Amino acid sequence: MSEVRSLGYVVVSTGDLDAWEAFATGLLGLQVSERTADRLLLRNDRYWCRLRVELGSAEGVTALGWEVEGPVGLDAISRRLEAAGYDVARHDSASAGERGVMGLISFTDPDGLGVEVFYGQKADKRRFVSPTGASFVTGEAGLGHVFQLVDDEERFRELYLGILGFKLSDYIEFGPIFGTFTHCNPRHHSYAFAAVPDRPRGIGHLMLEVDDIDIVGRAYDKVLREGAAPLAISFGRHTNDQMMSFYVNSPSGFQIEYGTGGLLIDDATWRPSRYDAPNQWGHEHQRRPVTA
Ligand SMILES: [Fe+2]
Repeated sequence: MSEVRSLGYVVVSTGDLDAWEAFATGLLGLQVSERTADRLLLRNDRYWCRLRVELGSAEGVTALGWEVEGPVGLDAISRRLEAAGYDVARHDSASAGERGVMGLISFTDPDGLGVEVFYGQKADKRRFVSPTGASFVTGEAGLGHVFQLVDDEERFRELYLGILGFKLSDYIEFGPIFGTFTHCNPRHHSYAFAAVPDRPRGIGHLMLEVDDIDIVGRAYDKVLREGAAPLAISFGRHTNDQMMSFYVNSPSGFQIEYGTGGLLIDDATWRPSRYDAPNQWGHEHQRRPVTA
């Protein structure tokens, strides 16, 4: 079975590209690859575009880009999706090129979020230089992880664990609900989901990991002392992936988890478990219950 290898990119819609540019460069340490009147392309490693922020009427994540190893894997996933009843668009080379990839398909998940699967992400000959001196943990672990609030858990289990071939990492109990955490590379989880009543559906947060606790600490200072972004969850450490992180609200409302020290796992020895809390310490919610 062909499998997804990593989270390659995330697409965001916003009405305020200037706010996104200031947030992404000044707080997160991302570098602008390209800025036009209607889009802002951001990078955090050798690739041309990891975060694609597009001018639009909606606010939030509109699509996830998952990487496969090549055309054979892309075709196999397309056929499995179609066999399960998904309407798959196979993009031509011009459309794939606009996204900065060699091969691309897209479909919508059971809640209407865009899902793209690709291979051959465009590398940038220019050296990545973070405006804040950050160095991001990517490579085979991909861009980071996302947590999605879903309507019907069973359909997302079937899509991600069944069709796309993700493997189970573990579960976390959040009061009456359970989050399911899954992986497709050594990063503890690249995709997590939970059915949370009375919360909007969609991506709750995107996690970006740096390799230095001081980069996280200096960003935290900018939030606390300079109001660089609204704090959503205070500094703390997660139980399952051991990430030390804090959460802020992005200009589009969904959260960015910014952290370091995330667990890498090995399928040969990994055993899924169940946690009764999301945090070892810290991670105080500032306004309302959110997500891991
Ligand atoms: Fe997270």
